[in-house]
Amino acid sequence: MKKSFSKVKSIKGELTFAGDKSISHRAIFFSSMANGKSVIKNISLSEDVKSTQKVFKELGVEFYSDKSDLVVTGRGKKNFLPPKIFLDCGNSGTTARLASGLLTAQNFSSALIGDESLSKRPMQRVIEPLKLMGANIESSNSTLPIIIDPTDKLKPIEYDLPVASAQVKSAVLIAGLHLSDQTKVIEKFITRDHTERMLELPVEITDKKKIIFASEKFYPIAKEYFIPGDVSSSAFFIVLALLSNNSELIIKNVSLNPTRTGFIDILRKMNGNIQIENVKYSSNEPFGDIVVKSSELKNIRIEESIIPNIIDEIPILTIAGIFAKGIFEIRNCKELRYKESDRIKSICNNLKIAGLAVEEFEDGFSIEGEIKNNAVTFNSFNDHRIAMAFSILAILIGNNSTVDGIECVAISNPDFYDQLNSITSF
Ligand code: S3P
Repeated sequence: MKKSFSKVKSIKGELTFAGDKSISHRAIFFSSMANGKSVIKNISLSEDVKSTQKVFKELGVEFYSDKSDLVVTGRGKKNFLPPKIFLDCGNSGTTARLASGLLTAQNFSSALIGDESLSKRPMQRVIEPLKLMGANIESSNSTLPIIIDPTDKLKPIEYDLPVASAQVKSAVLIAGLHLSDQTKVIEKFITRDHTERMLELPVEITDKKKIIFASEKFYPIAKEYFIPGDVSSSAFFIVLALLSNNSELIIKNVSLNPTRTGFIDILRKMNGNIQIENVKYSSNEPFGDIVVKSSELKNIRIEESIIPNIIDEIPILTIAGIFAKGIFEIRNCKELRYKESDRIKSICNNLKIAGLAVEEFEDGFSIEGEIKNNAVTFNSFNDHRIAMAFSILAILIGNNSTVDGIECVAISNPDFYDQLNSITSF
């Protein structure tokens, strides 16, 4: 499906977002693993989180929805039912990688599959550490399908993360929750920390590394979760408000986890007028309100250490960079090539369509020049964050600029276009 956009006069209003996708995935994992009834308030409405729910339904977990709450009856430790079919993770890397860790510790065989895009994404990064733990886990070419057979030799490991990945970290820690001795995961660059916060895992932080410890002592118990709004979904609207004239946008009850708000730190350093208000905590996760006003942005140097923290927001930060003073350059983000699309390629191809001079590197890109205000057609490359970032650019260009393949926005935010309509005046 295609959608065309006209230029907006200003952005005004208030938005609230359904629950954060990363936190929602984990709330479903932990409440399914726990024994008995948990309630998840403000669960994400994304297709990805539905994929996680579908996997656990097949493993015998019961769900029912009560307005925006999801009630989960978990199976308890090692009590899942053996799946009768392949477990379909859809488009969701988080589902596939976290489930690999969990299924490794069960006493039945299982197989994980996914859609065309997920089937191309690298899985060796979870297979390798899980094998070191003694897992019986195989895949023919380091991608899905992954086949997992039971083992009685599961043992804890000390694992130095070779890629800065919260999914890999979480897979190892979740397997470690089934063992009496401690599993340790060591990270050089800090990645999103929802798993350790939600399970209240012990951590040790020095200026060079972070160590996270897991053992059966921290196996989840049934409880109530409140999921704050999805801050990654809010990023598209924050950038649009900054770049539009006479704008003021308020975003309520959104996650403010510091391992996720790197894009706000960067936009502020770029001169963005962004205020944080009313900070509160739930399930160890901070959340609050964000107030954004129109701003004149300037480009800044983006350090390597912040990359894992902004990895999902690079497409929309690029759009901010196009309109900011100076050259936008981002490096050290080769990981973008392994997302729902090769995001370095997807971004560069679309920017060339807009008439910008783009230099592509193996680990990033730089952009120079100005947008020609002619109508352009962008491609979503079937990647939700590319579709949303280039919808924002299409609005800023106007003249009926178009994005082709917009259905995929539902992977993280099915309400994206309705929310856009509600805050734009033409
Ligand atoms: C996620 C971790 C990140 C992120 C993804 C969600 C998570 O992936 O890009 O959207 O929920 O753990 P990596 O762990 O592969 O960096």
